[in-house]
Amino acid sequence: MSIIGVGIDVAEIDRFEAALKRTPGLAERLFLRSELLLPTGERRGSASLAARFAAKEALAKALGAPAGLLWTDAEVFVEDSGRPRLRVTGTVAAKAAELGVRSWHVSLSHDAGVASAVVVAEG
Ligand SMILES: CC(C)(COP(=O)(O)OP(=O)(O)OC[C@H]1O[C@@H](n2cnc3c(N)ncnc32)[C@H](O)[C@@H]1OP(=O)(O)O)[C@@H](O)C(=O)NCCC(=O)NCCS
Repeated sequence: MSIIGVGIDVAEIDRFEAALKRTPGLAERLFLRSELLLPTGERRGSASLAARFAAKEALAKALGAPAGLLWTDAEVFVEDSGRPRLRVTGTVAAKAAELGVRSWHVSLSHDAGVASAVVVAEG
């Protein structure tokens, strides 16, 4: 086991929500349907979405922020316990494989108007 990379990011929740409202198609460019919707079918709240955006930025930093990563090639999903996990496909999975990443660790937080995430890439 070895740590290949670590990434951190913060996002201002109100600013992020305003960007999503202002920019048609942005939510779909950043997120999978499974991230946008809760299991009940309701839309996920803006604090949780901002944290998921921060997780994708943190993931990119953990890989050294290479060009060409697609936002929707990283998915934050939630275990039954409520613990968030990362799943990667396509461009992100290819870069991760190139660097020898075999598993991901993610932690999210949101409070006081700010959402944040930390990601660890393990080889
Ligand atoms: C490089 C990038 C991560 C910077 O993020 P940002 O939101 O503009 O800026 P932040 O304030 O969050 O982070 C800045 C820090 O990122 C770090 N950073 C810059 N380039 C980096 C790299 N290639 N790898 C890792 N960290 C990097 C630096 O430490 C910088 O701080 P510093 O300037 O004080 O040294 C961003 O421009 C980027 O490329 N994002 C990835 C987009 C992407 O790939 N999305 C799909 C993901 S699935």
